[in-house]
Amino acid sequence: MKTAKQFLAIADPDIYAVYTGERKRQEEGIELIASENVVHPAVLAALGSVMTNKYAEGYPHARYYGGCEVIDGAEDLARERAKELFGCDHVNVQPHSGSQANMAVYLATLQPGDVVLAMDLSHGGHLTHGSGVNFSGKLFKFVHYGVRKDDGRIDMDDVERKALEHRPKMIVCGASAYPREIDAEAFHAVAKKTGALLMFDIAHIAGLVATKLHKDPVPWCDFVTTTTHKTLRGPRGGMAMCREEYAKALDKTVFPGMQGGPLMHAIAAKAVSFKLALEPSFKEYQKQILVNAKVLAEALTGCGFDLVSGGTDNHMMLVDLRNRGLTGKAMEYALNEAGLTVNKNAVPFDTEKPTVTSGIRIGTPAVTTRGFKEPEMKRIAGWIDRISRGVDDESLRKTVREEVRELCLEFPVYPDLE
Ligand SMILES: Cc1ncc(COP(=O)(O)O)c(C=O)c1O
Repeated sequence: MKTAKQFLAIADPDIYAVYTGERKRQEEGIELIASENVVHPAVLAALGSVMTNKYAEGYPHARYYGGCEVIDGAEDLARERAKELFGCDHVNVQPHSGSQANMAVYLATLQPGDVVLAMDLSHGGHLTHGSGVNFSGKLFKFVHYGVRKDDGRIDMDDVERKALEHRPKMIVCGASAYPREIDAEAFHAVAKKTGALLMFDIAHIAGLVATKLHKDPVPWCDFVTTTTHKTLRGPRGGMAMCREEYAKALDKTVFPGMQGGPLMHAIAAKAVSFKLALEPSFKEYQKQILVNAKVLAEALTGCGFDLVSGGTDNHMMLVDLRNRGLTGKAMEYALNEAGLTVNKNAVPFDTEKPTVTSGIRIGTPAVTTRGFKEPEMKRIAGWIDRISRGVDDESLRKTVREEVRELCLEFPVYPDLE
């Protein structure tokens, strides 16, 4: 008998080397990418299982393939648990990713050329919220709102003005790089006034929403979409929720409209992560994500960093590096060399190219999962500050990398995994 890992090592030593290298990187470095997390070993077990073998086109108990009577149980559980977690009327757990969840909602409700109002990518929105290089921007006529220059907050007056001017068929809220709470009730008021559908993309904040640590958007929205792998701490994937009246259209759009066979191993892993998210300890975990983000934001501010909007209400912060004379690209590289992973990110009204940017985005979900608390957040701020003062200093990066590694070894990512 061999473990799955032993089979991998024998069958494909090259990919095994990638696997061991990546595992070492995750164990010995600090993961601060706001959209990443570390899944529970039970989620890994579901993903790396024989459930990947099954074709199950269609929906539970109405499939286009035989032999689905067992695997149906995974999708039934994923749906039931998602409904309990978010309190939605209906959910489709089949989208392969967050982008496909968004595509499903658009294709279920809009015609090519329809007008949609969403947050500007350069102010924190997502590619699938109408970027010209994305299917969304190519198929539909997106108009964008943004944040105010003086305080970095969503300008609801701008949202209403644009909704009245352009009469969108749909308004999209939710973001990839916005550190403040988003007021679904206020968006609902604008949508109602202008006759638009409302979709909230909670990809980043799903864990906070599920635990009601972010104001619940579900009652105010026609559609709520999400990824399952960010704060929610599930497998890489997507999911779309809606009011009952849109359930049939949404399901028909996902399959057969957009996708073929669902990834049943991923759906099973989603079900596992939803079960874990329903446990009281998940709320404690989400609370610590918020505390860690606040402490890190305050510590960075104390070091003289300029945070967009002055701080954070959620799991992430955006650091505007212009007062340090640095670009996001240079800082991302230097931090990575020192064992701290962040991503360069445009700040609102950025004048640098998207491949350079003036900012970095920092998030606390992954470090919170590995057990970091307030003292570790302060150490991280100290390292970021030191690196920012010598981005080209190789020996400094080496010193910090060793300090980072020492701390990481005290907090193993998978202490009980062979
Ligand atoms: C707000 C938002 N929506 C959608 C997505 C897309 O998710 P995926 O990368 O799974 O397609 C992301 C991913 O970063 C996101 O931040």
